[in-house]
Amino acid sequence: MRGRKRLCRDRRRREPRLPRAKGPGIGHGLERGHLAFTDDPEEALSNSHILFLCVGSPSLPDGSVDLQPLESAARAGAPWLRADHVLVIKTTVPVRTNAWLRQLVGQVTGLGPGQAPRVVSNPEFLRQGTAIRDFLHPDRIVLGGEDDRAVDAVVRIYRPILEQRFPGGDESRPPTLVRTTPEVAEAAKYAANAFLAAKVSFINEMANICDRVGADVAEVAKVMGLDHRIGADFLQAGLGWGGSCFAKDLDALIVAARQLGYEPQLLEAVRDVNERQRQVVIAKLQQHIDLLRAQVTLLGLSFKPGTDDLRGAPAVELARSLRIRGARVTAFDPVVRGIQGMPYVGITEDPYEAADGADALVLVTDWPALRTLDLTQLRSRMRGDLLVDGRNVFHPDEVARAGLVYEGLGRGALGKRRRLTLDWRAPWPAEERSREAADDEQEAVPGRRVS
Ligand SMILES: NC(=O)c1ccc[n+]([C@@H]2O[C@H](COP(=O)([O-])OP(=O)(O)OC[C@H]3O[C@@H](n4cnc5c(N)ncnc54)[C@H](O)[C@@H]3O)[C@@H](O)[C@H]2O)c1
Repeated sequence: MRGRKRLCRDRRRREPRLPRAKGPGIGHGLERGHLAFTDDPEEALSNSHILFLCVGSPSLPDGSVDLQPLESAARAGAPWLRADHVLVIKTTVPVRTNAWLRQLVGQVTGLGPGQAPRVVSNPEFLRQGTAIRDFLHPDRIVLGGEDDRAVDAVVRIYRPILEQRFPGGDESRPPTLVRTTPEVAEAAKYAANAFLAAKVSFINEMANICDRVGADVAEVAKVMGLDHRIGADFLQAGLGWGGSCFAKDLDALIVAARQLGYEPQLLEAVRDVNERQRQVVIAKLQQHIDLLRAQVTLLGLSFKPGTDDLRGAPAVELARSLRIRGARVTAFDPVVRGIQGMPYVGITEDPYEAADGADALVLVTDWPALRTLDLTQLRSRMRGDLLVDGRNVFHPDEVARAGLVYEGLGRGALGKRRRLTLDWRAPWPAEERSREAADDEQEAVPGRRVS
């Protein structure tokens, strides 16, 4: 989008809160006057040609998508909309929203077919925490539209990204451009999020089975991930996904399918497994300690590293569940300083202070800073000695050396298993020879102490 002016209109304020990291495109754009902000629709629309609609798409109580923000944005801009405007829907919206918006725009502007602005669906696949990088280096750019000239105009906007011709661009990995129908573009966004959520729930289901059969799910996942048809990403067992998108989009897809007379059993199971996963951690705590009057320290609160977003965060649900069971909850997070409506969670700015007097620690978010905590120091501040690794990031031996009892998710038979060797150069006979030594080492891992 080099050389173009970008004007952002948000109904709430003229000076939006910008990401902390002024990455390429934001700080640079502001400094050079290529990026400006306004809350005035006339100013935003009069001098623009392509209008990106990025408003939220919150859930209604039944799980369906509330299109009110999209509608109010379209209505607010109606007096200034022209035939040569292209409306680009970035917001994640249900299938057929493109058609609905075309009709709405026709109504609110009074412009007939051929005169009303054209609408292109351009779903966004970026991830929170790496938004700018994902936007600049996407795997694919999907444009769904009925009007070829409108799609061409949006392709021109994306040309520098498609060709990776910008400072820091990677010309060896240009994104794939997909030109398609609005329905495919809209459905593909939901399908992608539902599939990623399904991968996480799948490995969590496997983790719960591994706990019972005595296999380490982390190693099972490694073996699975080596199959190029499966891929290694999103196969880390743990507390399940959080955040605003997966749950919202999965709910929306389930509701849409039901409204069309189809019962999406797999999608429902994906959601149920995710919800149950939080309770698996509670059950693991209860195997070791009586939660009534116990102190449990949560390490990490945001739904994933790199963001302060608590929407759908497992930590919030865990804290609530623990409180209901009579436990005192303390917490540390590198960026989160409070949880709205939960003043009883004692959040400290120092992880070791958070562990003072704790009966158990639960690693909730795999922030890099939490992986390198001094476990011995944490243990010395605690009353108890339990560490529940909700993201399977610690090495059980390292935890044991710090004097802590380790509980992961799906790593049930740690004391008995042989370590997996993925290096083809390590032949099985050598592995056999080192087995005795490995068995010795594993004896240091304490067994489960069910109270
Ligand atoms: N956040 C992500 O990582 C992500 C990733 C992919 C897709 N999405 C999708 O993008 C959309 C936006 O998500 P978000 O996280 O940026 O939401 P958000 O709530 O953080 O931002 C939406 C913005 O739209 C503004 N807004 C609402 N109504 C408006 C109106 N009528 N006129 C002008 N501005 C208005 C709000 O003030 C707010 O600043 C959602 O559909 C989401 O599913 C988000």
